[in-house]
Amino acid sequence: MPSSASPHTSSYGSPGSTSPTHFHSDPSFLYPHEPGGKLGRQRLSSYYSSELMNTLPEKVKSPKTTKQILSNIHLELTASEVPLDVKELYESFEFFLRTRKRLFGAAKRGPSPPLPIEVHDMCCGHGFTGMLFAACSPSLDVHVKLFDQTCPPSHFVIREALERVCPHMKGRVEFVEKSLSAEGSPPSYPSAAGPSAAGPSAAGPSAAGPSAARSSSVSRIVIGVHACGLLTDSVLEYALSNSATSIAVMPCCYTGTNPQAPYGLKRVLGSSWSSDIARIYRLSSNNYHTDFSSIPSSITPMNRIIVAERR
Ligand SMILES: C[S@@+](CC[C@H](N)C(=O)[O-])C[C@H]1O[C@@H](n2cnc3c(N)ncnc32)[C@H](O)[C@@H]1O
Repeated sequence: MPSSASPHTSSYGSPGSTSPTHFHSDPSFLYPHEPGGKLGRQRLSSYYSSELMNTLPEKVKSPKTTKQILSNIHLELTASEVPLDVKELYESFEFFLRTRKRLFGAAKRGPSPPLPIEVHDMCCGHGFTGMLFAACSPSLDVHVKLFDQTCPPSHFVIREALERVCPHMKGRVEFVEKSLSAEGSPPSYPSAAGPSAAGPSAAGPSAAGPSAARSSSVSRIVIGVHACGLLTDSVLEYALSNSATSIAVMPCCYTGTNPQAPYGLKRVLGSSWSSDIARIYRLSSNNYHTDFSSIPSSITPMNRIIVAERR
C-alpha cells in the first residue's frame, strides 16, 4: 500500500463491520427518513399523496445539521410538486451523504485560508445532485457548475424550490450546456467558455488543463452520477485534466467500458467490477487515494461509487 502524504478519511481503522474500511455493497439508508414504499419513477408529490405523507419529517425552522437541511428540501420539493422522481431524490441524497465528507475534506486541505470550492457536476441532467453541495453548505464558499449537453426545463423549477429553503445558494449555481466527449479522451471543456444556460457566472478557470488548474485559485471537486458507459471515463479524464482535488462517480451501464480487460478478469469479476477496478488503478496512478462506496440497492442496482482524493 503506498503511503499517503496527507491523511484521508479511510486511513484509519482495520476492516470490520463498524470500520469505515468495511465495504458494503448494499448499505442501509443514511438519510433518516427512508422511503415508505417501493421506489420507482414516480413523482415525489404523487408518491407522498397517500398515507406515506405521515412519514415525512416536520419542517425545521433554523436547520443546523445537513440532515435537517435535507429534510426541509424533501418537504419543499414534495409540497411544490417539482418534476422530480422519488428515486432521484433518494439517489441524490444518499450519493451526497456518502461522498461529501471525503470530497469537501480533500478540497479543504491545502493552503490557509482555504481556497473557494467549485463543484463540477458532469452529465448532470437537472443538476439536483450537484446543487445539494451548495444547498447543504451555508457556511462554505462553494460554487456549483452543472454540465450537460442540454439544460432541461426541470432544472429551473428544482433550483427555485431549493432556493426557497436554502436562500444562501442563490448566485452559487451555474448551468453550462456543453457536450462531453464519449471517446474517453481528455475533453476540451473550458468551464467559462461554453454557453451558460442560466445563472451568474461563478468564479472559475478560463481553460481546462493541468497547468491552468494547478495555478487555479479554486479547489475543484468533480462528480458524475450515472454518466452512461464511457462517459464516466470522460468524467474521470475531465477531473484529471482539471487537477480535481476530489472526485466521485457512480457509473451507469458498462457497454464498451474497459475493452482491454483480460478475458479471465471479465469472466470472473464481470464487466462492471473489471471496469471499475481499471478506473481506480487509473486514478491511483495519477496520485489519488481511491476507494469504493455504495448507496442502497433498492434505489438503483447501479449503486457503486468510486471516490478519489488527491494525495
Ligand atoms: C442517465 S442521465 C444522468 C443524469 C444525472 N446525473 C442524474 O443522475 O440524474 C445521463 C445524462 O448524461 C447526459 N449526456 C449524455 N451524453 C452526454 C455528452 N456527450 N455530454 C454531456 N452530457 C451528456 C444526458 O443529457 C443525461 O442528462
